Amino acid sequence: MSVIEMKSIKREYRMETKKSRKKQSEAIIVRALRGLDFSAEQGEFVSVMGPSGSGKSTLMNILGCLDKPTSGTYALDGIETSSSNANTFAFIRNRKIGFVFQSFNLLARTTALENVELPLFYRQKDKKDMKQKSNLSRKERAMAALKEVGLENRMDHYPSQLSGGQQQRVAIARAMVNDPAFILADEPTGNLDTGMTLEIMGLFQQLNDRGKTIVMVTHEPELAAYTKRIITLRDGSLVSDTLVENRGNALADLAKWKNDHALLAEDL
Ligand SMILES: Nc1ncnc2c1ncn2[C@@H]1O[C@H](COP(=O)(O)OP(=O)(O)OP(=O)(O)O)[C@@H](O)[C@H]1O
Ligand SMILES: [Mg+2]
Repeated sequence: MSVIEMKSIKREYRMETKKSRKKQSEAIIVRALRGLDFSAEQGEFVSVMGPSGSGKSTLMNILGCLDKPTSGTYALDGIETSSSNANTFAFIRNRKIGFVFQSFNLLARTTALENVELPLFYRQKDKKDMKQKSNLSRKERAMAALKEVGLENRMDHYPSQLSGGQQQRVAIARAMVNDPAFILADEPTGNLDTGMTLEIMGLFQQLNDRGKTIVMVTHEPELAAYTKRIITLRDGSLVSDTLVENRGNALADLAKWKNDHALLAEDL
């Protein structure tokens, strides 16, 4: 069973414009996605690329169950989302998808641990879950997720007491704590410097090696080169879908980068 199965996805925005003279309203249809087929299996690591306006954000919103397509079908982990009611739609969003944004989106007055615990509060409301209640407490699950991103010694820090890369690690732990079907990352390193970017890409590669499915929007080919597959959109259509050959190793590149920097510092 595919984690993601999209068929003939169209998303049209209807724009009402007023004609100034006759004051007649006229509708313009913007075709942001023009019948897109896209599937991903468990364990894939996919980059979504394409020029500005090509439909990446529109696709991300639909993938993330933040928006529904105008037509077409989207099954996530075998659940058909397009025909689901508002409750099911929200349930799928909260439980099946781990979001990672460019801006981290952490709560400022809340520790790293509490930030990661947050998605588990939604979970409690879910009856099925109460029945098969896991033995681990909320706190233990959040601690395990933080450990997985290498932040076990920063649990009580507030976001302002963490580096940008560490904040993004907290956000990734939060995205993972519910054990989602896939991680959806929107330019996750857009606000980070080279070193932190490589750290985060290395972490994604590690998580992916352990079986996590990841879909990531990026503008940068160097980052897409760390993923396994690249899909490219243009004018709302999927124009290419290729496997990455000679995939980069972000942690190896990070070590090399650090080494070069140390040499540079010695020279000064
Ligand atoms: N709410 C909306 N109403 C009308 N048109 C929209 C809306 N959102 C997006 N569009 C249009 O749909 C098309 C795709 O937009 P989208 O935001 O998905 O592009 P993108 O690939 O994410 O671009 P960028 O790289 O600049 O973020 C664009 O032509 C855009 O103008
Ligand atoms: Mg966009």
